[in-house]
Parts: sequence; C-alpha cells; structure tokens
Amino acid sequence: MIIAANLKTNLTRSATHSYINELELCTQQSAQEVIVFPATSSLDSYTTIITIGAQNAYPVEKGAFTGEIGLEHLEEFGIKTILIGHSERRHILGESQEFISKKFHFFKEQGFKIVYCVGEPLEIREGSKEDMLAYLSKQYEGIDTEYDNLIIAYEPVWAIGTGKIPTLEDIQDMHKELKQKSSAPLLYGGSVKVNNIKDILHVENVDGVLVGSAALYAEHFCSMIQAAQDLH
Ligand code: 13P
Repeated sequence: MIIAANLKTNLTRSATHSYINELELCTQQSAQEVIVFPATSSLDSYTTIITIGAQNAYPVEKGAFTGEIGLEHLEEFGIKTILIGHSERRHILGESQEFISKKFHFFKEQGFKIVYCVGEPLEIREGSKEDMLAYLSKQYEGIDTEYDNLIIAYEPVWAIGTGKIPTLEDIQDMHKELKQKSSAPLLYGGSVKVNNIKDILHVENVDGVLVGSAALYAEHFCSMIQAAQDLH
C-alpha cells in the first residue's frame, strides 16, 4: 500500500525534522511505501527511508517566477516526487488544467514520481453520475495516464478537511471507474482518519491513501501505516 501525508501549510522545518524522525521508526518496521509532502520551506535533505515529495513547484529549472521554486531547488535536496493537481491548487490558487498538464509533462520529462490528484466539488457530486464522470475526465486531459511513475489520488473536494467521506460503496464505485482511465496505483484522499483507514484500505481498487490533517501528528500517521501493515 502507498500511505502518503500531505502536510499542506503546516509544520515548520524544525517540526518536520522531528516528524520525519518519529515516522522513520514506524516506517522501518513496515513494508508500506510511505510518502510525505512537507511545506515548501520545510524541504530539506532528510536522511530517511521515507519518500519526501514537493507539494508544488513551477515547471522550470529556475528563472523569474516570483514566489515559486523550480527544479533546481528540488534537486538540491534530491527530491524526485511531486504532487500535481491538488484541488486546493486548482480551486484556491486557480491552476487550470492546461497549466497542470504543462507541469505534469515537465516533471515527467525529469522522471519524477507524480502523485496526480483528481476530484469533484460538491455541486458536481450532487448532479448526475454522468456529469460527474465527465467532470473528472476533464482532469485527465493532457495527462499521460500510462506514465510508469504515476500514482493517482482520488480526492472528492467535499470530503477534504470536512470529516465527510463517501460511503465505502461510493469509493469502490469511483475507484472502479477511475481504474478504467489509468491502471496506475489509485489512492483515496479526503478525511481519512485513524478510525476509518482500515475500512477504506479494504475497498477494492484502493491502493493506498493520501492523508491531510489526520497525518499532522506522527503518532497518528504511524497508526495509519500500522493499519496498512495489519492488512497483510
Ligand atoms: P484531509 O485528510 O485533511 O481531508 O485532506 C486530504 C487532502 O487534501 C490530502 O491531499
């Protein structure tokens, strides 16, 4: 299973160091693939078996892009994993599918492991299934779904940070649909917690999880890694 933590705009660099050190202990005893996406200013050269990824970077080596970081900044820390298409970047930062696809291809060319996020907002969810699938299909436009270093994360926007999750049947249904678009490992994200992770990981076609707020405490995230471990 792939157990990933998106720390978003949380944990300073020093707090992230303590966090990674704590996680290292539980990850060593597990066969799970653990990925952590620290805040940009918390990226560093961590000595760890955990995969460290960037939450974002501009599709350029370096240049005049105020406030952004480029490939050079990731290379400094040996980072070869990136999150692309997260709903917070789509909806809050206004990233278009065209730009997301450009970013995807830039980092694909660099051989990065790409965790690519898709997901529908509530108003789309409340419409027909056909419209929902059409909405999600647009998020695959310009994306190489056969890229061999690709992981997809299905994160319904309405389930992120709300404590609401789709029913297990809905997760199964959506993952079945999305597996037809790409055979890449498919994670579920959105209000995954210590108390629901086991049920979610049991769902067919769920290859792991992408966790936000419930992963902010290393102890909790370790419990989740352990839950994945217990499945085997
Ligand atoms: P929460 O786990 O806080 O709902 O966030 C999920 C998420 O956005 C992970 O990328």
